[in-house]
Amino acid sequence: MKQTGDLIIEGVLVCTNRSCMSEFPIIDGIPIVMADLRQYISRNYQWIMNRTDLSDVTESLIGDCCGPESTYDAQRRYLSSYAFDHYGGMNPYQEDPSSVVPGSILHLVREGLNRAGSGISAPVLDMGCAVGRSAFELAENSDDIVLGVDLNFSMLKTAQTILREGIVRYPLRRGGVVYDRREFPVTFKNAEQVDFWCCDVAGLPFADNTFGLAASFNVIDCVASPYGHLVELARVLLPAPHGKAIITTPYDWSASATAIEAWIGGHSQRSETRGDSPGLVRSLLSSGEFPQSIDGARIISETESIPWPVRIHDRSVVQYDVHLIAAEFYDQKVKSPQKEV
Ligand SMILES: C[S@@+](CC[C@H](N)C(=O)[O-])C[C@H]1O[C@@H](n2cnc3c(N)ncnc32)[C@H](O)[C@@H]1O
Repeated sequence: MKQTGDLIIEGVLVCTNRSCMSEFPIIDGIPIVMADLRQYISRNYQWIMNRTDLSDVTESLIGDCCGPESTYDAQRRYLSSYAFDHYGGMNPYQEDPSSVVPGSILHLVREGLNRAGSGISAPVLDMGCAVGRSAFELAENSDDIVLGVDLNFSMLKTAQTILREGIVRYPLRRGGVVYDRREFPVTFKNAEQVDFWCCDVAGLPFADNTFGLAASFNVIDCVASPYGHLVELARVLLPAPHGKAIITTPYDWSASATAIEAWIGGHSQRSETRGDSPGLVRSLLSSGEFPQSIDGARIISETESIPWPVRIHDRSVVQYDVHLIAAEFYDQKVKSPQKEV
């Protein structure tokens, strides 16, 4: 085991159930707790083994060799877009050329907390946290643990480096396969409450009724099972009034992330629901409205449209409008107010 102070950098978690004894590694401070660990590791080993000590000159040469369609470049693009939005506004050394101001994730977190209302007094789960700024922001508004989970190991590594070393380091895309390294120090209040784990948001390794807040910022349309993600979110939340969910999404469905039959809306416009994604998500989060509606679910509040610009490169931005919903889930042994009407 490798350890720095209280933090385990490398080790193995072993399930204490004698009939299970499954092993889950902790690598670079990130516990990988996946149901099918063998599949995850074998598909992601290049990101797990990825070096972060190479100079930007060498990285640019590797980037040229791999080319624009490579997984190497795809990974740099993700890092560029999300790290810029999450931390670009904290760069003390330079203002980056962009037609968009970074920090839109902060607006989503703050509007979500406004909509969900009241204080958070139990652990918080940030589902699909990417490079982690939302988790740090949630920790500033909580006195309990905040756990950011994601599947993308490179983004988690960036988040862990920020947590452990207080250093933001990422490639900012100028255009093509040209990137400029960004590196600067940051500090966050309550950072000691934050951690980042590698977990699937549609199969979470947590007991029922664990979290006081579960946030899903722009994740529903990126997962293989959007409905499974919502069901998991409801399962791990404490029953209302102690547990709240914040969900935002631009409903930017793509077959590369989600098979079309698993999309929530976005197809079958001939049907009664006319393929209306926001309407369908509302129904799924309103107990009794649909056979598939989540039991005990109730929408607390929502905002139809919040801008979420994603920087692609110096001269390109994708401007999304996200739907924000704050919801809660009543224990079915206790009737929800909605059902009493
Ligand atoms: C569009 S990004 C949003 C990132 C961040 N929440 C934000 O709004 O800036 C979606 C994130 O979900 C993560 N993701 C996709 N499928 C996932 C899954 N099954 N479990 C955990 N994370 C997942 C991706 O790796 C990515 O970081």
